[in-house]
Amino acid sequence: MARKRIALIGGGQIGGVLAQLIAQKELADVVLFDIVEDFPQGKTLDIAEASRVDGFDVELRGTNEYKDIAGSDLVIVTAGLPRKPGMSRDDLLMTNAKIMKQVAEGVKEFAPNAFVIIISNPLDAMVTLFQKVSGFDSNKVMGQAGVLDSSRFSTFIAWELGVSVKDVNAMVLGGHGDTMVPLIRYANVNGMPVMEMLERKYNDAAKAKEVMDAMVQRTKMAGGEVVKLLKTGSAFYSPASSAIAMAEAILKDEKRVLPTCAQLNGEFNVDGYYVGVPTVLGENGIEKIIEISLNEEEQAAFDNSVNAVKSLVEDMGRLGF
Ligand code: APR
Repeated sequence: MARKRIALIGGGQIGGVLAQLIAQKELADVVLFDIVEDFPQGKTLDIAEASRVDGFDVELRGTNEYKDIAGSDLVIVTAGLPRKPGMSRDDLLMTNAKIMKQVAEGVKEFAPNAFVIIISNPLDAMVTLFQKVSGFDSNKVMGQAGVLDSSRFSTFIAWELGVSVKDVNAMVLGGHGDTMVPLIRYANVNGMPVMEMLERKYNDAAKAKEVMDAMVQRTKMAGGEVVKLLKTGSAFYSPASSAIAMAEAILKDEKRVLPTCAQLNGEFNVDGYYVGVPTVLGENGIEKIIEISLNEEEQAAFDNSVNAVKSLVEDMGRLGF
């Protein structure tokens, strides 16, 4: 079997961790692209020089030219700027939309058959723009948000219940913002409902609800919590790990059931927008969107999140993208 190749567009914090994880897992050869001269070359050289001690053998190449991503099976995009003090949401949207448009044009020209996972924020708008500019089939263009948001939710549940995080299954749907929808009713520990476990722990339904509401709130604000602590940037280890789970599912045809920012064409009663939903990821990218029933409260929260995504995409349209 020919070796796989992954191109990483953006060689900053997340891009660097992505390159290291791909190498350590020997998932694929890596091309790390960044506009800053010498920077991606420095990062890939550094990672390659750990190959003997870590015992991996993949090709790692840094570049400032799009032509070097030719032949990539998968592209992961982290190019973009984080919000700086004094910058409005529109300013960030404008700046990153310009970058994403360039990226989509570069990928379209040099890696037209690749699957694409977008991580850059504002996520739902950036995925929408990439798909529009590239014209790639929607099963091939997706965003990473739900895997991370769900992992954060699961981590908080595990800490609260004092159980292994490996046994916690919890999912977050909707847009990648304050309106995201952690699904409380479906959260479970090896099949056992988390709410029931909380009620037994506290022997008090109201207290259990209060504890769950606090975990839901922390999940929604989890990105900001890390930013506040780091002070110099946003989360990068966990977003990188989350995108790798998606990349592995596609390249190894794992048929994993993961929440993905996917284009909806009628599913969940949404038409033409990218929103986080449960999907099956395999060799054809997004192979299936799994529709699940939502109760009234969940549906209202989901609709609210979809509306936030719509207004973000409309804002982007107003800015000329
Ligand atoms: N083309 C390619 N790369 C670019 C471009 C461009 N036009 N413009 C900027 N970059 C590069 C920067 O040079 C930088 O190395 O994108 C990289 C971004 O890296 P960081 O600033 O370290 O950001 P990171 O923490 O990796 O996050 C990247 O993911 O989670 C989101 O909100 C986050 O949008 C941000 C993105």
